[in-house]
Amino acid sequence: MSRDWHAWHEKYDDPTSSLSRRLAVVRSELGSLLAAADAPVRLVSLCAGDGRDTLPVLADAQAEVDAVLVELDPGLAEQARATADALGLDRVEVRTADAGTTDTFADACPADVLLACGVFGNVRDDGVAATVAALPSLLTHGAHVVWTRGRQVPHDPTEVDGDPSLVVRDLFAATGFEQVSFVRPDDAGFRVGVHRWPGATGTPRPGHRLFSFV
Ligand SMILES: C[S@@+](CC[C@H](N)C(=O)[O-])C[C@H]1O[C@@H](n2cnc3c(N)ncnc32)[C@H](O)[C@@H]1O
Repeated sequence: MSRDWHAWHEKYDDPTSSLSRRLAVVRSELGSLLAAADAPVRLVSLCAGDGRDTLPVLADAQAEVDAVLVELDPGLAEQARATADALGLDRVEVRTADAGTTDTFADACPADVLLACGVFGNVRDDGVAATVAALPSLLTHGAHVVWTRGRQVPHDPTEVDGDPSLVVRDLFAATGFEQVSFVRPDDAGFRVGVHRWPGATGTPRPGHRLFSFV
């Protein structure tokens, strides 16, 4: 891995940072989705980090949630496991694995909620497009995707001029997703989208490469 993702997580320590503000939005959006759930939820988080955007929300939720968090860094994955244990979340599995291939999580799909937070800003434009195009195969009818995209992330691999989150949003629309929300503050670089899949439940396909981090 080329980046120090532990150092990246330290920006969460500053409650005024853009990342902390993004965290609050992601948790809120996820909490709303779980509050509206009327059946058990299958959740998958790609590149889950230490799971802080997901695990406390699951602990507070009334919904029954079976969650698979996929994180490549062993230390961050272990932190997520420890947090899940501490919160008594025995229906959470943290996989130390490559989330860029469906091999590692296709068995946890089709998902009702899929998180792709902190992913698209680390992936070339064709990988972002490939990932969004593949999402319907990983989702149930009516499933939701919570995604983020920074406006000017460090080492940004995009060739898009302007705000790349708008391109991601357009990709979701072109794939047939419905926009539920799109948070784009003027005074911060983070963006958080929630999109609903209105089509048929997909058939997860193992062995499909979605993305690779640059
Ligand atoms: C920008 S951070 C986002 C973490 C978390 N989703 C969040 O928003 O707080 C990106 C994470 O992806 C992880 N990562 C990088 N490549 C990965 C891969 N191929 N599969 C799974 N995780 C990966 C990194 O270790 C890091 O924890």
